[in-house]
Amino acid sequence: MVHLFQPFIQRGVTLRNRLVISPMCQYSSENGFSTDWHLVHLGSRAVGGAGLVLLEAAAVTPAGRITPDDLGIWQDEHVAGLRRITDFIRTQGGASGIQLAHAGRKASHNSPWKGGKALSPAEGGWLPLGPSALAFSPEYPTPQALDKAGITQIVEDFRQGARRAMEAGFEVIELHAAHGYLLHEFMSPLSNERTDEYGGSFENRVRLLLEVVAATRAEMPADRPLWVRISATDWTEGGWTADDSVRLARLLQDAGVDLLDCSTAANVPKADIPVGPGYQVRFAEQVRRETGLATGAVGLITDAQQAEEIVASGKADVVLLGRESLRDAYFPLHAAHELGADVKWPEQYERAKPKL
Ligand code: FNR
Repeated sequence: MVHLFQPFIQRGVTLRNRLVISPMCQYSSENGFSTDWHLVHLGSRAVGGAGLVLLEAAAVTPAGRITPDDLGIWQDEHVAGLRRITDFIRTQGGASGIQLAHAGRKASHNSPWKGGKALSPAEGGWLPLGPSALAFSPEYPTPQALDKAGITQIVEDFRQGARRAMEAGFEVIELHAAHGYLLHEFMSPLSNERTDEYGGSFENRVRLLLEVVAATRAEMPADRPLWVRISATDWTEGGWTADDSVRLARLLQDAGVDLLDCSTAANVPKADIPVGPGYQVRFAEQVRRETGLATGAVGLITDAQQAEEIVASGKADVVLLGRESLRDAYFPLHAAHELGADVKWPEQYERAKPKL
């Protein structure tokens, strides 16, 4: 049996296999609208056989964008374009999900290929928001610390984003609580110096995420899975740790979260990260082993045998593919062949399917 190509069932959703396209910003939107690029890029990965295609970080409010070119889900008008994408992915036998995001103190930059620098309001940028008035690095603007009303508004923005995601036909929602963006900034003591009920103790630092989870879950029918991506460690003394992740996982499980997608890092500019093949898998493994919550493994997973081993050995339930899926949109079809799993190819491509 090839474990990677066993269906993955959560609530009322069946993924045809365990390969998920990791959310990846395309910086190809204007005013948050998806474009033909999204349809072709994401559609190709559904044609390529992925079980779930996760759309990039979609901002739940304009101030929550990393760049002016980010995908958004802050207005009802965004739904129609997204619906076109979810409809197409479904025709290919894939499922779709969207990552709801707020960039927090890392907002207001230009896109990587436009220089990736901070944008001042005069250059079309805006004032970033964060838990505390602490900049990510000297090159980053100092964010405005959110007040209670601002926090309530953020929760409401995620709620409305979740409602629109359901209207757009996504099977899965993933909340972005990783990589030093707003929810992660609240969670980590390195970026949160608040003295109110959203700072200080572990319970206080995860409060915003739990409020966002509750608001999101309330907008989702019971048959749709909710995933959360975290940075399972800050890789930095005094920061968020793997044990914090395990503790959080238990709370998320009780709150109706179905899978923890375990990435790491990016809340501070300098961290000691042992980057190498599958270097983050151990966090997915630890959370799954210690809590029983389903997990996703991501990060430098680039070949079929490696992905199969992760799922077969119970380290994670799904494998998320980032850059390898940009190099090869058909990675799942190629992996199936390599591992000897007989999967359906698109009818249009049937004559090209290699014999097992
Ligand atoms: C990313 N990544 C990312 N992560 C995330 O949670 N939301 C996002 O929108 C993005 N955007 C993004 C854009 C691009 C171009 C890249 C390359 C990466 C991180 C990505 O999902 C993944 O976690 C990492 O790339 C590590 O996995 P790989 O690439 O080693 O398979």
